[in-house]
Amino acid sequence: MVIKSAEFVKSSQKWQDCPEPALPEYAFIGRSNVGKSSLINAMTNHKDLAKTSQTPGKTQLINHFLVDESWFLTDLPGYGYAKVSKNMRKDFEKLITNYILNRQNLVNLFVLVDTRLSPQKIDLEFMQWCGESSVPFSIVFTKADKLKPGGADRNVDAYKMELLKTWEDLPEIYVTSAEKKTGTEQILKFIQDTNQFLIKNKVRFDD
Ligand code: GTP
Ligand code: MG
Repeated sequence: MVIKSAEFVKSSQKWQDCPEPALPEYAFIGRSNVGKSSLINAMTNHKDLAKTSQTPGKTQLINHFLVDESWFLTDLPGYGYAKVSKNMRKDFEKLITNYILNRQNLVNLFVLVDTRLSPQKIDLEFMQWCGESSVPFSIVFTKADKLKPGGADRNVDAYKMELLKTWEDLPEIYVTSAEKKTGTEQILKFIQDTNQFLIKNKVRFDD
């Protein structure tokens, strides 16, 4: 699927302020600086639709983008950013968890993890929480271009082994690079197939 249009809708400080939940929504989440905003730009073929930064903590609000006038792509603040106060971190966590648990049109979360890193406790705990809260999610490995050929596959395999210690089944996994624009087509295919399924089954979120 090639995206025809993508536009910024609004930034919200809490889930109650988000746009009307009338369309299917897909959200990007993960640690600060993992590449959420960059991947949104790569997917939508925009240079700076979502604001990116070398400094972690750039995205501090819930940002909604309307894609092809038919679904929302959402950029969430990163979790686990160490350089803010404990209280601020707690506020971010509350904003994120409230959004996830209350946003009735949220169809799938994409949990982004850095391909270069070994499985991080904070990501594993977040995925565990998603499982316990019955929140559907997929894993997106980012910045694959920063590894030598073969390196990404090795790290992804190691990650899968770690997950299989506690999970019976693995979620959908995507390996991406916003820099090289790789892996985005697979994510878009998943979204397109899901949207078609929702239309076919006349699923509504705002009843
Ligand atoms: P917060 O909004 O702070 O939570 O960060 P974020 O997850 O939105 O990360 P962002 O997209 O702002 O990217 C952080 C940094 O990583 C930027 O300097 C990007 O240029 C860089 N980056 C993101 N994706 C890639 C990638 O695929 N390859 C490479 N080489 N760099 C990337
Ligand atoms: Mg961001």
